[in-house]
Amino acid sequence: MMLEIERLTVGFRTRVGRKDVLHGLDLSLSRGETLGIIGESGSGKSMLALSTIGLLPRGASAAGTIRLFGDDLLSLSERQMSAIRGARIGMIFQEPMTALNPAMTVGSQIAEALRLHREMSRRDARREALRLMEMVRIARAPDRINSYPHELSGGERQRVGIAIALALKPALLIADEPTTALDVTVQAEILDILDQLVRELGIGLLLISHDFGVIARMADRVMVMRAGRVMETGTAEGVIRRPQHAYTKTLLSSLPRRVRAGLGDLS
Ligand SMILES: Nc1ncnc2c1ncn2[C@@H]1O[C@H](COP(=O)(O)OP(=O)(O)OP(=O)(O)O)[C@@H](O)[C@H]1O
Ligand SMILES: [Mg+2]
Repeated sequence: MMLEIERLTVGFRTRVGRKDVLHGLDLSLSRGETLGIIGESGSGKSMLALSTIGLLPRGASAAGTIRLFGDDLLSLSERQMSAIRGARIGMIFQEPMTALNPAMTVGSQIAEALRLHREMSRRDARREALRLMEMVRIARAPDRINSYPHELSGGERQRVGIAIALALKPALLIADEPTTALDVTVQAEILDILDQLVRELGIGLLLISHDFGVIARMADRVMVMRAGRVMETGTAEGVIRRPQHAYTKTLLSSLPRRVRAGLGDLS
């Protein structure tokens, strides 16, 4: 197993004591596998992602174990964790603009991500940046490499975000609502790129979404979360066709009939 999380508890320090937002969560992920994580707003999906990549907000702390290839990430120092971040775990955020530096061209940002962790000449880093931009299908990449983030569309910015996340060939990719900010056609293209990369590179993908359509299309397995707990886990098809938990049934039944039909849930 590539990633194994056991009894993960995350809480915030507050004036009146500790408030837990994840209550002993377990999950596992293999190479080349996509695990879809779905659940209502506030259920703890982002806290799960951030604890895995070691970027919990101030005031939050995590207990339990998060093992990546056997290393317990929660026991690493910030210095060790920052070496793993990028090199072994890539993260794609909902709004790519927040992850990009507005004052730097996208090519320099991808090249910088490469040079930060790998011994690479400027020239090689730039060549690799171009290759990555082509890999995420940015049209006219040789021109776009010198663009600033604000000169790109939302979809192109998210492609740059994916290129940066993939720059160091991570084993694990975490995508927190990667297409929520994009319109449907761009969303489909980005998902298609992600799916292809995961398959070709054998990456494990934790894909967070509140959209069952996205999960059905992308995930091998799905985990349903509510209020910091796992409600159920199973194959995407199994969970969609035969939801076990009342909460999952509610999530599915709140979808428009046409969408449900598309998912194969005709009940
Ligand atoms: N900085 C913070 N301080 C205190 N509580 C927080 C903080 N950030 C998040 N929380 C709480 O942690 C819980 C889980 O939040 P989280 O962001 O993981 O939810 P989510 O499932 O990602 O929701 P969404 O679908 O809206 O992104 C929520 O109850 C939220 O209020
Ligand atoms: Mg979130």
